[in-house]
Amino acid sequence: MKILICGKGGSGKSTVAALFSRELARRGKKVLLVDADESNLGLNRVLGAGDAQLLMDSFGGRPGLKEKMKKTGLEAPIAVLNQPFTPADLPVNCLAEAHGVRLVALGKIRNLGEGCACMIGALAKRFLENLRLAEDEVAVLDMEAGVEHFGRGVVKGADALVCVVDPSRESVLLAGRMAGMAEGAGLPVHFVLNRVRGRAADVLTEALDSSRILAVIPDTPGVFEAGLSGEPLPDGVEGVAELCRLVTGC
Ligand SMILES: Nc1ncnc2c1ncn2[C@@H]1O[C@H](COP(=O)(O)OP(=O)(O)OP(=O)(O)O)[C@@H](O)[C@H]1O
Ligand SMILES: [Mg+2]
Repeated sequence: MKILICGKGGSGKSTVAALFSRELARRGKKVLLVDADESNLGLNRVLGAGDAQLLMDSFGGRPGLKEKMKKTGLEAPIAVLNQPFTPADLPVNCLAEAHGVRLVALGKIRNLGEGCACMIGALAKRFLENLRLAEDEVAVLDMEAGVEHFGRGVVKGADALVCVVDPSRESVLLAGRMAGMAEGAGLPVHFVLNRVRGRAADVLTEALDSSRILAVIPDTPGVFEAGLSGEPLPDGVEGVAELCRLVTGC
């Protein structure tokens, strides 16, 4: 199963993606967490993993990737782009690991004026389309904020979409927009209410299609502290277990 984690900027996508991945791994799934956000810097940190090479850099960075994407040849390093591949085919030095979760980061923008994120978006699209998973494997993709990957059609390669909704009207409106677009592509959409406190759960449930709400994650002091200090996320965060229903069915 390939699951995309989407939502408004700062709603908690990376947090939810990392917690969800760790919980799935704890339940015996082989999890590949994919950092598909060209801006964020710390998914490996919240997961508790070290650094690894960017997949884009294993293709020779931006120039190398551009050149290889033009070609139709299927030499080994381009396999990820042009033909079906499995997690085992990924370059070992592009994988970081923690809590039984393997993490691969597709690409980042690092230099002033280096160019737009289209290249990384194109890589994400091909990655998702060509990735083949076994029965016990799950890929969780931490997406960039907002809807660009919808416009680009990246989401089409997914099996399900999880939209993280924080307690704000903007987040609710964006979740509705995303659900509408994903539905058009026949993609199941689920909502995760995050950073919920006080009356927020009631207000969000009222405002959204409540049948799609998969989990409710409270505003959690341990998660806040981890975000502040740069430490890995804590275990046992309330609401995370419910996310696994998406994969295990119970
Ligand atoms: N349930 C929660 N309780 C407390 N703090 C939270 C919770 N979820 C996320 N946070 C904090 O909110 C901040 C934003 O979270 P996160 O980076 O996961 O959001 P994001 O949607 O991935 O952001 P971006 O759009 O920049 O990628 C972080 O500091 C994180 O620690
Ligand atoms: Mg993020």
